[in-house]
Amino acid sequence: MKDLLAKYDVPVPRYTSYPTVPAWEQNLSTEQWLEHVRQSLKDEQSAWSLYLHVPFCETLCTFCGCNNIITKNHKLEHAYVEHLLKEWSLYLQQVPDLRKRRLKHVHLGGGTPTFLSKENLSRLFEVLFRGLQRDEHWEASIEVDPRRTTAGQLETLRGFGFNRISLGVQDFDAEVQRLVNRIQPFDITKGITDEARRLGFDSVNFDLIYGLAKQTPETMKTTAEKTIELRPDRIALYSFALVPWIKPQQRLFKDEDLPMGGEKRELYEIAREAFLKAGYVEIGMDHFALKEDGLAKAMREKTLHRNFMGYTDQRTDLLLALGVSGISETPKSFHQNEKILPKYEQILAENRIPTLKGHAHTDVDRRRRRQILQFATQFETELEDSQLEAADRFLKEMIQDGLVVREGKRLRLTEAGRPFLRNACAFFDERLQAMKPGTQIFSKSI
Ligand SMILES: C[S@@+](CC[C@H](N)C(=O)[O-])C[C@H]1O[C@@H](n2cnc3c(N)ncnc32)[C@H](O)[C@@H]1O
Ligand code: SF4
Repeated sequence: MKDLLAKYDVPVPRYTSYPTVPAWEQNLSTEQWLEHVRQSLKDEQSAWSLYLHVPFCETLCTFCGCNNIITKNHKLEHAYVEHLLKEWSLYLQQVPDLRKRRLKHVHLGGGTPTFLSKENLSRLFEVLFRGLQRDEHWEASIEVDPRRTTAGQLETLRGFGFNRISLGVQDFDAEVQRLVNRIQPFDITKGITDEARRLGFDSVNFDLIYGLAKQTPETMKTTAEKTIELRPDRIALYSFALVPWIKPQQRLFKDEDLPMGGEKRELYEIAREAFLKAGYVEIGMDHFALKEDGLAKAMREKTLHRNFMGYTDQRTDLLLALGVSGISETPKSFHQNEKILPKYEQILAENRIPTLKGHAHTDVDRRRRRQILQFATQFETELEDSQLEAADRFLKEMIQDGLVVREGKRLRLTEAGRPFLRNACAFFDERLQAMKPGTQIFSKSI
């Protein structure tokens, strides 16, 4: 197993979307995008999701790959909320159906959404939720940094109907926390978890990361045990991706401190075993949920979905993202907002939708997207005739290693292949193969 882990330890996309952002064709104008949004809501039965991005964080965690702005200047909050509302008003003018169709899912992400004071959160949701049709089973979720969250903010959010909360935890070990510049004692995480439960949030999620500097099998076991003690409904256990924009001089750890290949995967396996023993179910590639949780149910009923935010049991006709760098999705296209805050704000000041880039799917994109989604959620999918020979060629090593099986037109990931799901998904990624001919899903050095 260790050899396989080392062999397939190559960078491959997470495939929360297809085509992946670097492969977008930039073939979508703002006008076309708005037309796609309108079409996605044409049917009276259609429903939509809303994502709001708050980019600010007070300090930098030196592992972080998110789109964020590090600042302690809370004077920025007010103007940012006003810009979010401006963007929302432009969409309402252009797509009046947003008011008529059911809103099924709201997610507030970042950065750190609780950078916003409870007053600014109130102002945002008072205006935003005015006159909207909430689905009777709506979910409203928020990502919080327990170090920067108050009971008052949680209470405000509950008041607006927020019912799910996701806590950034990453690791409970004090030394690992020091090395990534994120000191977060257990009691802080426990305090916010307890408070969320007391206020009646239905579901609590923890984000953890494996592969951080100086994590060992012992620290990982302890982190898993402490997690189980607090019993979140869901756990995301992300594989650490070293991001190049955090310079070595900004971090306290060195590249040599990072567990790699088999050592890194062992950390996942240790946590996985502890979670399964404690009654969690493994969802897709890096998530766990208690058996009675919606994700576990969706996995059983084969209705699990995946979008830019990861695995979800909510599937809607439109995912509309507001805020700097936000990524939106319709069945026909992807759209991303301007990533630089002053530019985002400037474009809105000119009463324009802050488009940075977009991608209109081709028919082939749509079919590959469906296959990747099915493969990532159900571990098998049907191949087209034209893919059979290519599958045998591209996946030859994985087939020989017993990780993938092709039975006629069906391509299946075996139990042993689970850790290598992303490598197998790269087969469907014809755009990656076209951009980088000779793409390898295994390390040539083995
Ligand atoms: C926006 S943050 C969560 C909310 C809040 N900012 C916090 O940190 O508490 C999203 C999550 O992405 C994960 N993440 C960030 N950078 C990562 C990286 N380089 N590799 C893997 N996971 C990462 C972390 O688990 C983090 O909790
Ligand atoms: S992990 Fe969260 S708090 Fe830390 S820098 Fe990233 S977005 Fe900000």
